[in-house]
Amino acid sequence: MIEVKNLSKSFGAFEAVKGISFTASTGQIFGLLGPNGAGKSTTINCISGLVKATSGSVSINNFNIATQAVKAKQSLGIVPQELALYDDLSAHENLSFWGSAYGLSGKTLENRIQEVLLDVGLESRQKEPVKQFSGGMKRRLNFACAILHKPSALLLDEPTVGVDPQSREHLLQATIKLKEAGTAVIYTTHYMEEAERLCDQLLIMDKGQVIAAGTVEALRQQMGERDLITLKGRYQEGANMQLLEDIGAQVLELSHQEVRILIPEASKCLTKVLESVAKIGKVHQVNIQQANLESLFIKLTGRALRDAA
Ligand SMILES: Nc1ncnc2c1ncn2[C@@H]1O[C@H](COP(=O)(O)OP(=O)(O)OP(=O)(O)O)[C@@H](O)[C@H]1O
Ligand SMILES: [Mg+2]
Repeated sequence: MIEVKNLSKSFGAFEAVKGISFTASTGQIFGLLGPNGAGKSTTINCISGLVKATSGSVSINNFNIATQAVKAKQSLGIVPQELALYDDLSAHENLSFWGSAYGLSGKTLENRIQEVLLDVGLESRQKEPVKQFSGGMKRRLNFACAILHKPSALLLDEPTVGVDPQSREHLLQATIKLKEAGTAVIYTTHYMEEAERLCDQLLIMDKGQVIAAGTVEALRQQMGERDLITLKGRYQEGANMQLLEDIGAQVLELSHQEVRILIPEASKCLTKVLESVAKIGKVHQVNIQQANLESLFIKLTGRALRDAA
């Protein structure tokens, strides 16, 4: 279990994390979702003890990371955003190195190395030097190194950024397996589809603050029983949206290329929506979906996750 209470971190006068609290329980994936610069890595680094918090506290399995660091770190695994691998060594040698650092040796270490290689799908490539690996394979090995000692608390900082679909699937499946074995996982991402698929609890961060928290289902409910309609096309920026509001729509976004609205029972009022939007531009493509976390983020901040930095 990982408990974070009123955590703040400033760099000089700049407050990167502004008093956030949450608990990641055993057997759960706890998601930290937010755009670039939201404070996700700073939060992860304070939890792991790499960065000293300005105020607040972090405990891992009831050991305080500042005052009982050795005990707290014993049960912690960390997959940092930046890779921590030796390029000239093989995958197996990298795992041996990390395993020894965790105090594993002999047959126990070798068995664990083979288990984690299987988990991330790299068993057939273990003898190759890491410099021959693709970016996705390196991320999978980075992940394998962090779980060798069977940590009961695991921190994953954007583990799937820039990886191929096959590597992504290996990483997601390995994360789910750890959760099912009882690990408390903190998973940071700015991919809302991943957060929706994986996380039991979610905390949405922006500019160092919590802007929403709860289960995916509870967060969806904050959007009400509404659908999200995205209309791609060419529009006049800053056009009057009154016509859409008159038919019960909430306009989330209007840009040169995209209009996004929330509306109850989208399929029943699509004709009216198209008529209204036709008055401010030309529609090329229409998409209707259940309101999602991206729409919640836009509703709360006025910006889309992808361009919120
Ligand atoms: N060592 C540092 N010194 C000064 N400012 C920092 C430092 N580390 C982070 N920051 C700032 O703190 C803010 C939060 O950064 P952080 O890396 O935690 O964001 P993030 O949510 O992980 O973003 P990303 O999705 O890009 O990884 C940013 O504005 C960043 O520039
Ligand atoms: Mg980061």
